[in-house]
Amino acid sequence: MKRRPLIAGNWKMHKTVPETLAYIEAFKPLVAGVEDRDIMLAPPFTALDAAQRALEGTNISLGAQNCHWESEGAFTGEISPKMLADIGVTYVIIGHSERRHIFGETNEMIRRKIEAALKFSLSPILCIGETLAEREAGRTFEVLEQQLKEGLEGFSTADLKELVIAYEPVWAIGTGKTATPEQAEEAHAFCRKLLKDMFGEEFANKIRILYGGSVKPENIVGLMARPDIDGALVGGASLKPDVFARIVCFGRTE
Ligand code: 13P
Repeated sequence: MKRRPLIAGNWKMHKTVPETLAYIEAFKPLVAGVEDRDIMLAPPFTALDAAQRALEGTNISLGAQNCHWESEGAFTGEISPKMLADIGVTYVIIGHSERRHIFGETNEMIRRKIEAALKFSLSPILCIGETLAEREAGRTFEVLEQQLKEGLEGFSTADLKELVIAYEPVWAIGTGKTATPEQAEEAHAFCRKLLKDMFGEEFANKIRILYGGSVKPENIVGLMARPDIDGALVGGASLKPDVFARIVCFGRTE
């Protein structure tokens, strides 16, 4: 079954407001008329509002890089899904490996963030992935299974209609070391099979599983050719509009 591709750019802690606006100005015409796939940009929180205005009426959706699990309250420094929905954000990246490993996010925190995001009709992009040590110890599938089971515990298929999964092997992030299309496909197929066991075949066939980790214009075609790879979550290569546009436009001739 063919799923609609989603190519998403995660800018991480990069770009001021003027830099964001200059990027969008340059990027918009490069992807204008691309209607057979979804495109998303996730600037830092400080640039979201300006980005939303600049993206209005385009084929580019807006994503945030994180959110809190409560709607409001005494959580100094945090941003809630209610606030993100209020300014027109559509997607929110949840449980990115940098959040898990640098900021100590657990599967339980991630599950609560997904629940909160869904409450405000945001599409969560749940990130999962093994470290190099886990891969070398032969624990890749075990780690993915735990992240998916604990992160998605208690939800129904109706709740998770807009969920997106991103498989990002930690050893491939920002290292220039991409998983081979075979390695990525193996992990994606495992996740889809697990989703089938958890939520049924119809749900598993519909859910998009993105690959992330050193995606570039040079390797996107090979990755997207695999049956269970439905898009990409791009870090470094999403920071330049021309480079990211080449990734977004993979496989198009014009
Ligand atoms: P890179 O594309 O820089 O490896 O980052 C991937 C990533 O973490 C996207 O969320």
